[in-house]
Amino acid sequence: MHSSNKFLLFFFLSFAALVHSEALRRHYKFFVNETSYTRLCVTKDILTVNGRFPGPTIHAREGDTVWVKVYNNGSNNITIHWHGVKQPRNPWSDGPEYITQCPIQPGDSFNYKLIFSIEVGTLWWHAHSDWSRATVHGAIVVHPRCGTPYPFPRPHQEVPIIISEWWNEDIMEVLEEFVASGGAPRDSDAYTINGQPGDLYPCSSQDTFKLNVTYGKRYLLRMVNAAMNEIHFVAIANHTITVVAADASYIKPITVDYVVIAPGQTLDCYFEANQVAGGHYYIAARAYFGTPALALDNTTTTAIIQYDNSSTTPILPTLPDYFHTTAVYNFTARLRSLGPLWYPINKYDKRIISTVSINSFPCQNNSCAGPNGTRLAASMSNISFQLPSIDILDAYYYHISGVFGTNFPRVPPFPFNYTGSDLALYLQTPERATEVRLIDYNSTVELVFQNTNLLVGLDHPMHLHGYSFYIVGFGFGNFNESTDPLSYNLIDPPLRNTVLVPRGGWAAIRFNARNPGVWFLHCHLERHLTWGMDTTFIVKEGTRPQDRILPPPRHRPRCI
Ligand code: C2O
Ligand code: CU
Repeated sequence: MHSSNKFLLFFFLSFAALVHSEALRRHYKFFVNETSYTRLCVTKDILTVNGRFPGPTIHAREGDTVWVKVYNNGSNNITIHWHGVKQPRNPWSDGPEYITQCPIQPGDSFNYKLIFSIEVGTLWWHAHSDWSRATVHGAIVVHPRCGTPYPFPRPHQEVPIIISEWWNEDIMEVLEEFVASGGAPRDSDAYTINGQPGDLYPCSSQDTFKLNVTYGKRYLLRMVNAAMNEIHFVAIANHTITVVAADASYIKPITVDYVVIAPGQTLDCYFEANQVAGGHYYIAARAYFGTPALALDNTTTTAIIQYDNSSTTPILPTLPDYFHTTAVYNFTARLRSLGPLWYPINKYDKRIISTVSINSFPCQNNSCAGPNGTRLAASMSNISFQLPSIDILDAYYYHISGVFGTNFPRVPPFPFNYTGSDLALYLQTPERATEVRLIDYNSTVELVFQNTNLLVGLDHPMHLHGYSFYIVGFGFGNFNESTDPLSYNLIDPPLRNTVLVPRGGWAAIRFNARNPGVWFLHCHLERHLTWGMDTTFIVKEGTRPQDRILPPPRHRPRCI
């Protein structure tokens, strides 16, 4: 080749690389700091990333590695979790405090390495220390590999839709009050879409999130439920919604009038701007609580889809009622994975059954705000999980004893009629412990969550770090080991990272334990997480070097 041609080729290649790296950055900087925000006419400082609420979106491509350097410029400890990013062999950057790392102290920083593998679609990141995820969260968009199109019609525009909550009070005070009282936490003052409560709340209509649309175009909504404590119904007036992915895994497209999204979950869905008459339409979200017995916040947050800039009043969609359990599971039952399964799941090596319960502890002088003066708690298999003071990953990797036990049971310690009514009071008190479950490398695990009616039966969005799992079945009543597996979907079950366990029922998931590490498993309703509806799976290492945990990063926060 002539030398000037070589030069031209070199020039062209570096130009192409430049264009590419501009579209998808490999390095992000997250400055965690207090920023002043006003909502509902209340101005206060909230913890943010780069001054934004919700925080910045991370863009990646399938199979990428991305670095995010987090600088803690706030006044409390913090960690960040990359929810749904499986982090193969790399639990060091997973984020949950005292599980895989010690928190980043004020003034310190940590460089997280995000290893993407099969995820494609929408995920999210959030703080994973105390309750700071209330304001410290944002979307992760994983684009398909270069040259690979979406398996659905190309959207004209893509928009994150992040459902969250706003408290007029400082979130650290909400948490302190909650823990001190022993009762339920105070409700937030508004639900929000992209940080805004919307028209139906006092002094919010100026700032409602608006999406301008053009007739005949298609819009992809990258939806995240970042709310702390509520599952949500979401609908768009006069428009149907086509769901194409759940938890960053494609599904067979379904067209619905409303979607159900639990904290931790994400949905990719599109709508067609097909209203000939134009006009304004609300996207509305409202909570699902499962039972009329809980008088919780039944307000509605809205955003607006507008075809023009007229001042017409938007139309509200109808949403299912806040206790409409059938509406929830009619929706989730329709989710089916699109492509072939990533690994065989027709057999499993070990079945683990765990109850998920709301409980109570006795409280001195019966002075707590739980039922009859008790302290509210929660558990898995009757163990209310206690966070240790050195992270479990370090303790495991460096053989530090006395930090955790390995006795998380394979089946609940004593059987009872889990979904019966009027359950004996003595069943309500769990034990406090830090017990993990060891899992053999490369084994196929079936995990059945059995909900109980202790205190109050509620739906629980259970989230496993380090994995996506196939949801092979769910049902109502007590799980029956001989009959229920007969109705499993082993053909095209959805691949998710957060499964909704029905109140008064059960849900079964399967996964192949090929990701060695220390992986947190917990309810994604923040109050239940705080109460101890958590455990940790330690997936052992395989024998080949490529089946081992990666070496720890050089600089990591220390526990003091
Ligand atoms: Cu979305 Cu343990 O987290
Ligand atoms: Cu829960």
